[in-house]
Amino acid sequence: MKRLAPSILSADFSQLGKQIQLIEEGGADVIHVDVMDGHFVPNISFGAPVMKSLLGKTRLPFDVHLMIERPDDYIGDFVTDQTEYIVVHQEACTHLHRTIQLIKSYGIKAGVALNPATSPDTLNYIFEDLDLVLIMSVNPGFGGQKFIPAALKKAQELKKMKEARNPALCIEIDGGVTLSNVKEVMDAGVDMFVAGSAVFGAPDIPQRVKEFQRVLKVEA
Ligand code: DX5
Ligand code: ZN
Repeated sequence: MKRLAPSILSADFSQLGKQIQLIEEGGADVIHVDVMDGHFVPNISFGAPVMKSLLGKTRLPFDVHLMIERPDDYIGDFVTDQTEYIVVHQEACTHLHRTIQLIKSYGIKAGVALNPATSPDTLNYIFEDLDLVLIMSVNPGFGGQKFIPAALKKAQELKKMKEARNPALCIEIDGGVTLSNVKEVMDAGVDMFVAGSAVFGAPDIPQRVKEFQRVLKVEA
């Protein structure tokens, strides 16, 4: 099943609870939580208390994207009953195998994000341990950037690896996904679609979520 994960990075933070209700009303599947530390990426977003303020305000699961250095020190802060995935960056982890095991030790699904210049081959020796691979289709740090087309090739490559070695893997894409390119991204083998500005920048947020879902929920 293809899933839509709106990123609250592009939401109106002054009305976060209401904005979450709007995406839920439209039929979003997952809430993408973009955590930035101003070190790994050149921007600061928000931390675990903001995510936790949404507990009970929505039934949607959280997909936590940690764009931070030393993620091991903070993973525990993002563990909640609603946390489905915790995703760390390959480039931020010196001991990636250990970090993956740490996430799993909390009973949470583990994901690794790849920056645009990072090859899926870097995951070769942990591939079977992963629940999710996130392909960055922009350089992380900001919402509203333009989709980098090489991400499609990376998705196709990962799809082949998935079919051969880890069929349950979720392939996620993040950055610059819009109604204009989502079909092409889907055809490249992606399972979960992050959309920030394309959802929260829409004049009618529930309607925009529905428009995405009309593309994603069509059986192939
Ligand atoms: C980028 C973040 C993305 C971003 C997506 O660093 O990881 O999740 O918010 O926003 P859009 O869809 O606007 O590119
Ligand atoms: Zn993200």
